[in-house]
Amino acid sequence: MFKTVRGMRDLMPVDAERMRHVEQVSREVSKLYGYEEIITPVLETYELLAAKTSEEIRERMYTFKDLGDRKVAMRPEFTASVARLVASKLKNEPKPMRLFSVGSLYRYDEPQYGRFREFWQSNYELFGSDRPEADAEILMLTNDLLKRLGLKNYRFKIGHTEILKGILDQEGMDEDKQNSVRQLLDKKSWEEALAIARDADVSQKCLSALERLFGTRGEDAFKVLETVKETVQGYDTTIAAVDNLWEILELVKDSGVKLEVMVEAGFARGLEYYTGMIFESYVPRIDVALGGGGRYDKLIQLFGGEPIPAVGVAQGIDRIVLALKKQKVSPETGKEKSVVVISVKEESMGKALELSDVLRKSGLSVEVAVMGRSVSRALADANRRGVAYAVIVGPKELKEKKVALKDMNKGEQTTVPISNLAEAILSGLK
Ligand code: HAM
Repeated sequence: MFKTVRGMRDLMPVDAERMRHVEQVSREVSKLYGYEEIITPVLETYELLAAKTSEEIRERMYTFKDLGDRKVAMRPEFTASVARLVASKLKNEPKPMRLFSVGSLYRYDEPQYGRFREFWQSNYELFGSDRPEADAEILMLTNDLLKRLGLKNYRFKIGHTEILKGILDQEGMDEDKQNSVRQLLDKKSWEEALAIARDADVSQKCLSALERLFGTRGEDAFKVLETVKETVQGYDTTIAAVDNLWEILELVKDSGVKLEVMVEAGFARGLEYYTGMIFESYVPRIDVALGGGGRYDKLIQLFGGEPIPAVGVAQGIDRIVLALKKQKVSPETGKEKSVVVISVKEESMGKALELSDVLRKSGLSVEVAVMGRSVSRALADANRRGVAYAVIVGPKELKEKKVALKDMNKGEQTTVPISNLAEAILSGLK
């Protein structure tokens, strides 16, 4: 018997439906905010996907040589592919440009709760604006999506890459060491991150600023930012970063949208391309992020394009589904609006198929009983599967151009003229 490859999952109807529901709401949100959908390939050149991602992702990519001896990899995220397009085919498009993608991604992560080797994201990227309102839009859009899906108590962890980078650049720490510090912070290994700074011979002032910064976090965003500003006096880029984050959060506040935030001065995300505000979304009792994003103003240039500022977010569809399950939010399954048409005799099968066609045209989801079972067994099966109505096509009723209609929830059966069947079902479903 064959099994799935380790870390790969079959999604059964209930889960597939939930995934598609999140995908659909994500697409609706993309339209509401003016993000146009693009479809990029799952397979890209290794070099594209490896540039500016993170050591961890580089190590975990599904990489292989194709038959033409090209080194290729399965995408671990969308941002590199979308940025490739913006640096090439889309480079002359007017800005701003808002692009949406949804699909499967691949990372050789250790399978565990919320961590899969094949997973799905809905991804939004906004190109062309370096202004805080663009960052605010990405935060508001994420908030809107989670709200529309019916999630409660979600919150945002927010930081800014230049808080740390401003300090470490000024202290002369090279990019590789800074990447190591960031990776450690991403894993909350504060002590080890400090040890790297110590080994790199940074000043005492820097060490004590870092030590204080790693512990600076809180829900009162503006208070936290004030504390950070006091801590980093003398590091001008860092102060500018704090001001930038302040502006972004103030814009969100002015919009009237209430975000539950936790601002963290030492917050780092694994990816190497970020250059500004970074954030992740969470719900209680799930300790992995539902989504994450941020500003990356240098990536398009790195891919050979003009310097184009960008900010974006990827929503983890699988983890959003886990959160919806945990909070017991279920989308409508469609079963509550479905009908089964059962033919009593073989001779009336044609009529049953005709009726199914008519009912579908009025928007109902209709199954025809195709197993040749008796009416009672077909009804028992419909009941087991949560079908709302059964239409029983019997010879006696047919003579009078009628059928029997059974409300499966109430167990009541009536005789209905065929001309009035769709209406009778639809009014019963109201
Ligand atoms: P990321 O934080 O690597 O960011 O992934 C975003 C989301 O994808 C995560 O928060 C999580 O929900 C989901 N995800 C990641 N890995 C897995 C996994 N192994 N199993 C299940 N879900 C997973 C990015 O991918 C960036 N490209 C986001 C971005 C877009 N930044 C700017 N634009």
